[in-house]
Amino acid sequence: MRIVLVGPPGAGKGTQAAYLAKNLAIPHISTGDLFRANISQGTPLGQKAQEYMRAGQLVPDEVTIGMAKDRMQQEDAAGGFLLDGFPRNLAQAEALDAILKADGQRLDGVLDLEVPEDEVVKRIAGRRMCRKDSGHIFHVIYNPPKTEGVCDACGGELYQREDDSEDTVRKRLEVYHSETEPIIDYYKAQGLVVTISALGKVGEVTERAMAALERESAS
Ligand code: AP5
Repeated sequence: MRIVLVGPPGAGKGTQAAYLAKNLAIPHISTGDLFRANISQGTPLGQKAQEYMRAGQLVPDEVTIGMAKDRMQQEDAAGGFLLDGFPRNLAQAEALDAILKADGQRLDGVLDLEVPEDEVVKRIAGRRMCRKDSGHIFHVIYNPPKTEGVCDACGGELYQREDDSEDTVRKRLEVYHSETEPIIDYYKAQGLVVTISALGKVGEVTERAMAALERESAS
């Protein structure tokens, strides 16, 4: 399956993607994680991305599309993938269609996670990420680690993302509404969108998402 996960910052895309990718046996491809890996390795791409991410703005398309394409064309993604954070504007959505079309492929579905803005703000304020594995995501209240500052799964150090400050989150939400939301209509016109509520326990949201994707693939 080739699926796009869409939703505002803090909706739980990364959290859900870890479970969905495992259930569906496809790789989780997060452009945010790819940028953060480049930043921690000090690559030129990471240096370029960091200035935009710090400001809560989108990294330019010419950098992002090439990076996403390279990752999608790796061997483990030949049978499908779960895209998280890409595409994030109409130009990226059109580029993705062209990349898939060139390989005789198409998207199977777009899963839209709906969460009220006040919940998103609470989720981001308490988020803690693992330095060793970006798929290990915690929350100081909703999903606290057993030992403060330490990842339950691998013992990695937990940290707060640089772009999770209040001002940057406000900017990221603004960018989501102006740049990313229009792709939902773009995909609705192709009959690909399934919208679910991302409220409730993590496991409940995963069940809802799996059921929605099964309905979508059967239709
Ligand atoms: P990116 O890393 O993609 O961030 P985002 O889209 O803003 O999403 P987040 O990672 O903040 O949230 P999430 O939805 O994954 O939530 P999570 O699962 O962590 O992008 C960062 C930046 O990179 C962008 O601003 C941009 O600069 C750049 N970038 C990335 N892609 C780009 C692109 N395509 N083009 C250009 N620029 C790009 O959950 C949040 C918290 O909530 C966690 O603490 C979690 O434990 C908790 N939580 C999750 N689910 C639940 C639940 N059901 N109940 C209670 N708590 C929950």
